[in-house]
Amino acid sequence: MKFSARTRHIDISGIRKMFEASGRETINLGLGQPDFDTPEHIKEAAIKAIQEGFTGYTENLGMPELREAIVEKFQQENNIYATPGQVIVTAGASEALHIALQSIIEEGDEVLIPNPGFVSYSALTHIAEGRPKDLPLSKNLTISPETVAEEITPKTRAIIINSPGNPTGAVQTKDEIKGISEVAEDYNLTIISDEVYEHIIYEGEHISPAEYTENVITINATSKTYAMTGWRIGYATAPVEVIEQMTKIHQYIQACATSISQKAALAALTGPQDCVGEMRMEFLKRRNILLKGFDEMNIKYPHPKGAFYAFPEVANAEEMVERFLHHGVITTPGTAFGSSGSGHIRFSYATSQKNIEQALMIIKDIL
Ligand SMILES: Cc1ncc(COP(=O)(O)O)c(C=O)c1O
Repeated sequence: MKFSARTRHIDISGIRKMFEASGRETINLGLGQPDFDTPEHIKEAAIKAIQEGFTGYTENLGMPELREAIVEKFQQENNIYATPGQVIVTAGASEALHIALQSIIEEGDEVLIPNPGFVSYSALTHIAEGRPKDLPLSKNLTISPETVAEEITPKTRAIIINSPGNPTGAVQTKDEIKGISEVAEDYNLTIISDEVYEHIIYEGEHISPAEYTENVITINATSKTYAMTGWRIGYATAPVEVIEQMTKIHQYIQACATSISQKAALAALTGPQDCVGEMRMEFLKRRNILLKGFDEMNIKYPHPKGAFYAFPEVANAEEMVERFLHHGVITTPGTAFGSSGSGHIRFSYATSQKNIEQALMIIKDIL
């Protein structure tokens, strides 16, 4: 059968390959999802939705109450003042990224993406028939406004930023976000700001570029914040004309996000937030165990300030990932996130302290 160039040009995600490699005998430091169960009050809201028969389609944009809650969240936490008509609820941040790029990218348009960066950015840019253009990261793995300005060409249409970042754990500073927003405004670029790790920050603060400039598509999700990856709820806000275009695609490919999950997301956003802080504290403990282990083995790493990833430098990284796997420890080679990930390995610490300690012992033996 003949396949489209659109799909031929993209590879199966390196992360998926690791997901599929996982078995009972392995310790998985490869996965990008919290290992916590979804908090009880969120699950109860979904059960109630099922029992009350809330099982049909919702509005394409998402349930009005949920969009109201998202408006409130953006206002309280991000200084973004949107109306419910400027909010769309999607099947995870993944769909929001997809329909954002589909809406604004024309064939051949360049999209600046962090290298290394989250695997979907480049693939979704290709699917939108755009051209991903690598943004080299600074020594502490953030994006500087100067680098953005240097990489812009007449073809550049958008830039994707992701703070805290996957796979690096880096958190952009306020000055960097402000500077990137100014450059984007000067060159009329749309910023796609992927903020899914917003609540998992240990050092530094989360700043949304939409605080500084209007031409931003801000994307978030309940996935990482509330341990809800499988529920598939993401959301985005942008100027109303952008949301209108995104909605056209969303209504044909998705119709609406799952009704039951929307009720759960409403409970997540409007219910008690203690669970978010508790999970963050546990991630912090795990990060510190991992970093201490790296220090003991003299493994060098850029200090991760957020998300649940560390991105140390390891000689012969690809080979080491294979060797770790052979001994039952799954990690992800840095190259899965772009060419500049070479010489790095991504360690996800979204697993128990015991697993991390055990993995460190195994790695110590191997090294
Ligand atoms: C940076 C980043 N953005 C988006 C996503 C996808 O999020 P969702 O599960 O809500 O689609 C991930 C998942 O790993 C991610 O790391």
